[in-house]
Amino acid sequence: MVKGFSKFSKEAKIEWLIDNFFNGSSDARETLENYWHSDAKLQKLHDEFIENTITNFYMPMGVAPNFLINGKEYAVPMVTEESSVVAAAAKSAAFWASKGGFKATVKSTTKVGHVHFLWKGEDKQALTAFIEGIKDKFFTKTEGITKNMRKRGGGILGIELVDKTEDVPYYYQLHAEFETCDSMGANFINSCLEKFAEVLKAEIAESSVSPNQVEVVMCILSNFTPECLVRVEVSCPIEQMVEGTDMSAEAFAERFTTAVRIAGTQPYRAVTHNKGIMNGIDSVILATGNDFRAIEAGAHAYASKDGQYTSLTHADMSDGQFKFWIEVPLALGTVGGITGLHPMVKFAHQLMGKPNAAELMMISAAVGLAQNFSALRSLTTTGIQQGHMKMHLLNILNQLEATEAEKKVIVQHFIKNTPHHSEVVEAFKRVRGGEVLS
Ligand code: MEV
Repeated sequence: MVKGFSKFSKEAKIEWLIDNFFNGSSDARETLENYWHSDAKLQKLHDEFIENTITNFYMPMGVAPNFLINGKEYAVPMVTEESSVVAAAAKSAAFWASKGGFKATVKSTTKVGHVHFLWKGEDKQALTAFIEGIKDKFFTKTEGITKNMRKRGGGILGIELVDKTEDVPYYYQLHAEFETCDSMGANFINSCLEKFAEVLKAEIAESSVSPNQVEVVMCILSNFTPECLVRVEVSCPIEQMVEGTDMSAEAFAERFTTAVRIAGTQPYRAVTHNKGIMNGIDSVILATGNDFRAIEAGAHAYASKDGQYTSLTHADMSDGQFKFWIEVPLALGTVGGITGLHPMVKFAHQLMGKPNAAELMMISAAVGLAQNFSALRSLTTTGIQQGHMKMHLLNILNQLEATEAEKKVIVQHFIKNTPHHSEVVEAFKRVRGGEVLS
């Protein structure tokens, strides 16, 4: 047990880790130091993002060009460690760009938060009337917090008392809705909610509504944001669904649509299907400095909103048209958080022409849809491993410490066949041994 670790200097923290977990190895120290930024000011910025920073953790940032969304072309920055994700998004983006691109709409950017409280009084009607009576105060007492947001066109949209006593004894909510414009708004929402709780406690203390019977349990935004919804669609005549497959366009579209229907009814499949969608969405979320845990939680909750976990994408074939679309809640921000701080996040926003939050929702959902299209296209034709292992091949070769010349020969060798791990190792041993691969 170490005491006061967070108060140690960075040097002392590293010293402690090396001594306790790496037998004093200088290699471990060197690994950490190799990832420090040479610009001390930039390093300090990163150090101060979190507590106990010892170094930086690199992830690759790639770009998927040719995303045509509502007639505007984007090169989308993506941060991910999974080999085939950027390639899949880029391939799909190019395919759909040649067919009119992605059509996107944002339903709303409304977000939600709650004051969760217990009230042990008897007269529920009196409580309802009391909350109605003090509602204005929730707005006036938060004016200091909401001033700037109101100037930008946002603020508190509404506050309702919700009786949840059937779920948990004595449990009520103040269910509040917010418009946070281009910010994700977590701090704004949580600050408002905590102020609502103060107002509730102060006002009830002065009232005749069983004043000593109220207990605030917690105040927090919800990451379930079913209203903060974006829809993105692609479509084309069925006969154009043909590129890269050796089936007829119609047969491919049929099989593809069946695969989406399977995900629509089978939770085992839907989870993997949606995971593939999130491969795309998360990588844009990471690149743009948004909170991927919040987005993941909200997306999966939305996928089960009707009582069974189902697909976030849908497909349809009718009147000679193939249609494929996604509907997903994405509570994103383009201001606040680390968006104005992290140099790579700033770059990512600039690369896309500094989108507002609604535009970023559309871009992210389009990448999710593109990712799903590529995954299903592979799954329903060649199988996933061909493309995936081709992209993963360099990882295997790097792990084997192959030279650049060896990599070139082995990549060429697997150009037509799926490179399974043991075969790559075998090929590597042969090349190392001086053999010429056929
Ligand atoms: C792998 O990261 C994602 C896929 O499994 C998605 C899917 O099965 O649809 C390929």
